[in-house]
Amino acid sequence: MFNRVPGTKDILPGQSEQWQNLERISDKTFSCFNYRHIRTPIIEHAALFSRTLGEATEIVQKQMFLIKKDDEDVYALRPEATASICRAFIENNLDKTQGFVKVWYAGPMFRMERPQKGRLRQFHHIGAEAIGSASPEVDVEIIDLARTLLDNFKISGFTIVINSLGCGQDRKAFSQKLRERLKDKLGSLCEECVARYERNVLRILDCKNERCSAIAEDLVRGHDHLCPDCSAHFNSVKRGLDSLAIPYQVSPRLVRGLDYYTRTVFEFKHSELGSQQDALGAGGRYDGLVQELGGPQTPAIGFAFGVERLLLCQEAAEIKPSPLVFCIPLGDAAVEAVRELVHGLRGQGIRCDGSYESRSLKGAMRRANDLGASTVLILGDNELAAGTVTLKDMASGAQENVSRKDLTARLKVLLSEAQQ
Ligand code: HAM
Repeated sequence: MFNRVPGTKDILPGQSEQWQNLERISDKTFSCFNYRHIRTPIIEHAALFSRTLGEATEIVQKQMFLIKKDDEDVYALRPEATASICRAFIENNLDKTQGFVKVWYAGPMFRMERPQKGRLRQFHHIGAEAIGSASPEVDVEIIDLARTLLDNFKISGFTIVINSLGCGQDRKAFSQKLRERLKDKLGSLCEECVARYERNVLRILDCKNERCSAIAEDLVRGHDHLCPDCSAHFNSVKRGLDSLAIPYQVSPRLVRGLDYYTRTVFEFKHSELGSQQDALGAGGRYDGLVQELGGPQTPAIGFAFGVERLLLCQEAAEIKPSPLVFCIPLGDAAVEAVRELVHGLRGQGIRCDGSYESRSLKGAMRRANDLGASTVLILGDNELAAGTVTLKDMASGAQENVSRKDLTARLKVLLSEAQQ
């Protein structure tokens, strides 16, 4: 017997309806904001991610699922989709053919993590990227879009946390300043942060270790690392959110774990997820990424939600499938008639199933019940001779004889009542 790979999940019938529901809502919501759907491959050249997410990041250092063809060709199962979408943007000349591009996506991502609640090795993103505008209006739109999605998913109790990392120069200057101020505090930092001091000093700011956290709090107090342009951009974003009455908290310690971010970064946090990985989703600007990949200088911003985490926080919604009609043949002669009846009803868009095993009427009715059928059709020798079917409404138990020619019209009335 084989078991699932640790950190992966089977999404079974009964659960997959929740997933389909999220995807349906996403489709509608993204469409309202004029974002179009994009699908990129699940495998990419590994260098795409090491180049863009940052050689020193945890994902690239420890979490990539690599597939080696030979020393030259190393592929990776994508750990995220932003880099892939920028690659696709450049490779397909979308800047020339479509200009400002707004896209959304949903699909599996892969990171070699230690599995725990809300942390998987194969997980799923629903996300969006707006590529080709530096306007703070787009930052506001993208945060509004993410928040609207959560509202439509019926998820409440989340907090939006925002920050600005500034431009590349601001980041560099801030990192330098942090190194100076941390020089004589290295002994008090956790092991991980000591390593971060050289590799990626900004990440010390969002360390969850209590001692590092206290030091970080001290480091950011009253510190302003933004140049006038980045400061004006951030102020416009905050004003825009205020005008739409979108509540948010500013946290100078929000730095994100991927290297490509510039200016606005944000996270949607939810207490239901615990304190270690409390982000439902996150995103930010990456104004240098397209150019880093060999494309033209193109500012961009996006976000992604973790679907498994969304489902942990969603109020259990009752998702009603469309009502089911179950057809039972009584006797050999009726088997063929039921086959044709089921075929015909399905052709008219009615959700329909047949009793294929030769069962007693009692056994077949039990099966109809287990399947949650709202209507049962019974065909035996009498019905065949009379050109009728016996129709049983499972909710009321009422039974009636309906002629074959009136059957579809009668079913449509009953099924629309059952749907309500
Ligand atoms: P990220 O913060 O790495 O950002 O991932 C976004 C979300 O994916 C997280 O907030 C979390 O909900 C979920 N997530 C991440 N890792 C796991 C995991 N191992 N198991 C379950 N859920 C997980 C990005 O990936 C960026 N590409 C987001 C973005 C888009 N930035 C700009 N555009």
